[in-house]
Amino acid sequence: MASHNLLLYLLLPVLCFLARISNSHASESPSSSNSPMFTFPCSSKIKTCNASLYHINNGIPQEQVASLYSVNTTQLTPILHGRDQVDYLITVPCSCEKIDVNTTGYFYNTSYLVQPNDTFYDVSNRFYSGQAWPIGEEYDLIANVSIPMNLLCGCVENEAQVVVTYTVQNNDTLPGIANLLSAEISDVLRMNTKLTQNPGYIDVGWVLYVPMEKNGLPQVKGRLF
Ligand SMILES: *[C@@H]1O[C@H](CO)[C@@H](O)[C@H](O)[C@H]1NC(C)=O
Ligand SMILES: *[C@@H]1O[C@H](CO)[C@@H](O)[C@H](O)[C@H]1NC(C)=O
Ligand SMILES: *[C@@H]1O[C@H](CO)[C@@H](O)[C@H](O)[C@H]1NC(C)=O
Ligand SMILES: *[C@@H]1O[C@H](CO)[C@@H](O)[C@H](O)[C@H]1NC(C)=O
Ligand SMILES: *[C@@H]1O[C@H](CO)[C@@H](O)[C@H](O)[C@H]1NC(C)=O
Ligand SMILES: *[C@@H]1O[C@H](CO)[C@@H](O)[C@H](O)[C@H]1NC(C)=O
Ligand SMILES: *[C@@H]1O[C@H](CO)[C@@H](O)[C@H](O)[C@H]1NC(C)=O
Repeated sequence: MASHNLLLYLLLPVLCFLARISNSHASESPSSSNSPMFTFPCSSKIKTCNASLYHINNGIPQEQVASLYSVNTTQLTPILHGRDQVDYLITVPCSCEKIDVNTTGYFYNTSYLVQPNDTFYDVSNRFYSGQAWPIGEEYDLIANVSIPMNLLCGCVENEAQVVVTYTVQNNDTLPGIANLLSAEISDVLRMNTKLTQNPGYIDVGWVLYVPMEKNGLPQVKGRLF
């Protein structure tokens, strides 16, 4: 559509600027136990959707990853991050949930069987890429007891997009993430204003929502980078 193209060209300088300033690499977060995250607000029109959780590969075998997320291995799609790290996109049903008195948003629930000496943040970081919403502070993890893991996800009305819950990794840049997941940088920024108040700045461990274009980005975007 002509008006869309016009808008794109008006936005070009802005996008190039954002691409440039965000070239500074993300750095290790000092406290990985308390990574910034926020719930994706529920739309009154969408109760449930198919969403995607990005799982950072840390050596756990594929079958175990599927089991940790309570999914069939057919719901895991390998995705190449950097030169040789094969991560996974995990397709899950995502629903608007009231997790506790203060927290409503889109979640996918799975459960985890607690092992001796587990802590919540350690489990979330090690097995769920830090995407689990914290349970109450006083919650004691008891070995051999299953606990709910409420993983953050998102739903949008645009049927051409699926929301990916993405955890920022070492050396990631905003254009790099957008490119990896076929998303518009401007859409990523708009969806994460709670975290990206300093546009282009991202930090390791942040949990972002990335609206992935199911059919890829229009070719014209290639010229930007
Ligand atoms: C999710 O995807 C499955 C398989 O493609 C489909 O059958 C189902 O209707 C979808 N669910 C929603 C809520 O869109
Ligand atoms: C996983 O999905 C495949 C194909 O849909 C099916 O044949 C298989 O039985 C499923 N496995 C499990 C454990 O549900
Ligand atoms: C997900 O977990 C929350 C709290 O842990 C619970 O209230 C909700 O009913 C669960 N939803 C599903 C679909 O299991
Ligand atoms: C909900 O918010 C109130 C006020 O901020 C706080 O005192 C309470 O502990 C919160 N409850 C939970 C379960 O987080
Ligand atoms: C758990 O912690 C206790 C005390 O710190 C230690 O003695 C024990 O070996 C630990 N168990 C495992 C399985 O790591
Ligand atoms: C947990 O279960 C295993 C085997 O099922 C058992 O050997 C172990 O003693 C149990 N640990 C606790 C703390 O109950
Ligand atoms: C990040 O970049 C540095 C320098 O380019 C490189 O040495 C390091 O291996 C990279 N780390 C990861 C996790 O890719």
